[in-house]
Amino acid sequence: MSDTIATLPVVVENDGTPLTDLIDRRRAELRTTLVEHGGLLFRGFDVGGVDGFDRVVRALAGEPLTYTERSSPRHAIKGKVYTSTDYPQDEEIFLHNENSYQARWPLTLFFYCITPPDTLGATPLADVRRVYQNIDPAVREEFVRRRWMLVRNFHADFGTQWQHVFNTDDRAEVEAYAAANRIELEWLGADGLRTRAVRDVVHHRPGSDIPRWFNHATFFHVTSLAKDLQEGLLELFGAEGLPANTYYGDGAEIPTDVMDHLREAYRAASVRFDYQRDDVLVVDNMTAAHGREPFTGPRKIAVAMAEPHTPGEK
Ligand SMILES: [Fe+2]
Repeated sequence: MSDTIATLPVVVENDGTPLTDLIDRRRAELRTTLVEHGGLLFRGFDVGGVDGFDRVVRALAGEPLTYTERSSPRHAIKGKVYTSTDYPQDEEIFLHNENSYQARWPLTLFFYCITPPDTLGATPLADVRRVYQNIDPAVREEFVRRRWMLVRNFHADFGTQWQHVFNTDDRAEVEAYAAANRIELEWLGADGLRTRAVRDVVHHRPGSDIPRWFNHATFFHVTSLAKDLQEGLLELFGAEGLPANTYYGDGAEIPTDVMDHLREAYRAASVRFDYQRDDVLVVDNMTAAHGREPFTGPRKIAVAMAEPHTPGEK
């Protein structure tokens, strides 16, 4: 396992052929490497802008997905290619596996560096097989037994609105989506909404028996926010009304020392590289968590997701 971690992501350099030709020629081998290591970095290619990136996504992983049940501000650049999260650049985005709080998620993520940042701004990666190993077995077992819960509150006049998250104004549509995706809804006041979802903390990738720490219990916990943001949000909304927070699956609070331990388990598994223009990073979403460092400069990274997976499906 240690060799695997040391080479995340595996770098594939330009061999003189267009990237989509290289992928066509080596698709099976590249996909095997991606799943084993958790990440591939295509470097030194003339990708051909957002259209070229879209072709790379399709060549390696098929039709890209529409971004649903949003948790972060993001807008479409073109078709199903999106901006990476439009989040303040001086804030870190903690390591997470895309959409692990949903009933289904993409297996493959793509990041395309249109403009590199001046400083930092990497997409750090952490092998979640290693994160699992880094967590005290007693902590793991408790979470496996009790599972984890995400509570989100959408306020009419603050932050992300439910209409944006669920991409509709129609409450009945939201209710149908929630029922199909094991989300509990509670309409609040004139136009507020609280959602609760209980999920497993450990998942297995199709075709593998190696357990992965695959959840947003750490990412969405209030203590993973910057201190001043935590205090501001608690003052505005109280613990019950926070835009997002996580609990054990039975609704009990997760102790702070457990959260500190989980954050440390991710950080100890984290690796990083500096982006260069035209880098294409491919991440196996059930093998590697990704995040975002704070940065300076005009960083522009496009993202796309592919290969939807519903747990239980092989
Ligand atoms: Fe993400």
